[in-house]
Amino acid sequence: MKEWVRMTNLNELPLGTGKTISVNGKSLSIFHVNLGIFVLDSHCRYRDGDLGQGKIQGQVVVCSKHGCRFNIVSGECLDNKDHQNGTYRVKTTGPEIFVQIT
Ligand code: FES
Repeated sequence: MKEWVRMTNLNELPLGTGKTISVNGKSLSIFHVNLGIFVLDSHCRYRDGDLGQGKIQGQVVVCSKHGCRFNIVSGECLDNKDHQNGTYRVKTTGPEIFVQIT
């Protein structure tokens, strides 16, 4: 069953930042970029990097461990097409940010 769960709020996620938050047992990375707010699975498959700690460049996040690049919007790894991180729907209600998870 899908449900909306509060993840954070806009005051805690300024434009150009990201972070990882545990939501109902899932480790999710949330990013606030010019195109909006996006949520991905946090785990970089190369060696357990945390994408929420990565450097944001436009709509790309660069894993802090070994530099793999992920599209923040699509979850696609730009350096290995076989690696795709899950993406999640996001909505805001006032300043509060919610993610839809199963
Ligand atoms: S763990 Fe992400 S690039 Fe190595």
